[in-house]
Amino acid sequence: VDLASNDYLGMSANPTVIEAAAVAARRWGVGATGSRLVTGSTTLHTALESALAAFGGAEAALVFSSGYLANLAAVTALAAALQPPATPAGATQLPATPAGATQLPVTPAGATEPPGRQPPGTVVVSDVANHASLVDACRLARARVEIVGHQDVAAVERALARRPEPAALVVTESAFSVDGSVAPVGALHRVTRAHAAMLVIDEAHALGVVGPGGRGAAWAAGIAAEPDVVRTVTLSKSLGAQGGAVLGASDVIDTLVGTGRAFIFDTGLAPPSTAASLAALRLLAAQPGLACQARANTRRLAALASDCGLAVTETGAAVVRIGLGDPELAVAAQRICASHGVLVGCFRPPSVPAGGSCLRLTARAGLTGDDFDAAGRALAAVRDHIRTASPAGRN
Ligand SMILES: Cc1ncc(COP(=O)(O)O)c(C=O)c1O
Repeated sequence: VDLASNDYLGMSANPTVIEAAAVAARRWGVGATGSRLVTGSTTLHTALESALAAFGGAEAALVFSSGYLANLAAVTALAAALQPPATPAGATQLPATPAGATQLPVTPAGATEPPGRQPPGTVVVSDVANHASLVDACRLARARVEIVGHQDVAAVERALARRPEPAALVVTESAFSVDGSVAPVGALHRVTRAHAAMLVIDEAHALGVVGPGGRGAAWAAGIAAEPDVVRTVTLSKSLGAQGGAVLGASDVIDTLVGTGRAFIFDTGLAPPSTAASLAALRLLAAQPGLACQARANTRRLAALASDCGLAVTETGAAVVRIGLGDPELAVAAQRICASHGVLVGCFRPPSVPAGGSCLRLTARAGLTGDDFDAAGRALAAVRDHIRTASPAGRN
């Protein structure tokens, strides 16, 4: 019983999706053969981009070979594009970091930046729990990066209000990958708008699960079409395939095509993955109940864990987090589940902070009664293990 993958809607094994990939492989070959700007674009790519934009309520979309690269491109290209015109190399001082702010390493002192790459114009404000791809994007952005508390809108506002830089980018996941909590994206947008900043929302774990028909948290908050909102998605979770995309205003997408290094210098998404994503997206659009089903199954799974007395975190996506604290206990709990035929994720430091070890269960839309029975038996065994485990072995 798979309670570990991100295949929330079972699309990776859907016959229609598989057939679309097979047809595309025969028609276009297995690889894209070049960068999107050279030979790597097919009509499949543009069809997928139109479909993603229409589904997500955005003006335009751009497909990447992974969600990781979509994040790298969105954050680095926007951070650079928002800057005022560049000054000659060496003429600009880095702004001082405001008290309490975290500064990631930027260019070493004395290193020369090529013209147009000077860092001082933009600050990137990033949630402390953001996914590694967003963290790496911040590091590559050559901007000052300020890390704020998890879903702390007031901290975001303070960071924006006191910034010395003219431009700012706020970066967050919508449904957070480890605990499934959903960021207050509407409130974040009010703050970013008030302070003339852009908001980048990674909807990797929200697409297909959160919001009406699985259109994501930004759609649910009514900010999907705002010109200062940019969304990234992966095609590898609810759509069951591979790849990523950025959704936003046409001028944002044009900027990514023109300056997004992770777009320009990367081989395009393989045609079978492109076709599979398109087929899965069409299925999702035709079956808006799928997202509700995934969320209903999440609640049922959470109730099972809670009935066993386990520490369950409330979630708005298809993720159930069971806090265990101690890493060894978390590994033992994962093994116990496996011995009952149930696959669950296990998170330990450094993926989570010290004391934050947990099991991560995902609830697919297609879970059956038998699956829930197996999950119930596995979780009861975890409870029994915790009861008998030595207190010294736990946090
Ligand atoms: C929140 C988040 N963003 C981005 C990604 C990267 O997506 P991909 O696997 O398509 O590179 C992931 C996947 O692990 C993720 O969980």
